[in-house]
Amino acid sequence: MKLRLTLNGTARQLDVHPMRRLLDVLRADLALTGSKEGCGEGECGACTVLIDGEPVNSCLVPVAQAADHEVVTVEHLADEALMSDVQAALVEFGGTQCGICTPGIAVCATVALEREPDASRERLRELLAGNLCRCTGYQLIIDALADAQAARAAAARGHGAERGTGHPGATAS
Ligand code: FES
Ligand code: FES
Repeated sequence: MKLRLTLNGTARQLDVHPMRRLLDVLRADLALTGSKEGCGEGECGACTVLIDGEPVNSCLVPVAQAADHEVVTVEHLADEALMSDVQAALVEFGGTQCGICTPGIAVCATVALEREPDASRERLRELLAGNLCRCTGYQLIIDALADAQAARAAAARGHGAERGTGHPGATAS
């Protein structure tokens, strides 16, 4: 089946079996290996991508469902930069260890911070409830997201966009 979609901002035409999992098409056919397979059953969120701006578990989505829609993967979060502010914070704060959950968390957290820029730490936990992490215990992930959130808020107030001031090891000056 030939289908068209917009993938990471570029119009693409694919010739694929319509029932193949979107995750497999992304990883195997298109070399977009950022999205990970954790459970393969829609439980862990490691495979999260955006379809028309909504986070979805790509392990559960037949590629045909993405036809004529806009798909964004973790590879597109940072545009030209190596990492987005959310991704950089996750690395800096130790919010990533084995890394399997990290792409899905980065995708979902990016959406969460855009939609609810004032979300409390508790609310951030709720917004990321569909993303499981076996390594970090979540605290460092929330620390990272809170720091990225604070940096964005400071930038919006015209106080610069410096990140890292909320790091547990940061010293006040
Ligand atoms: S691999 Fe898709 S939800 Fe776990
Ligand atoms: S860093 Fe290993 S599952 Fe989250």
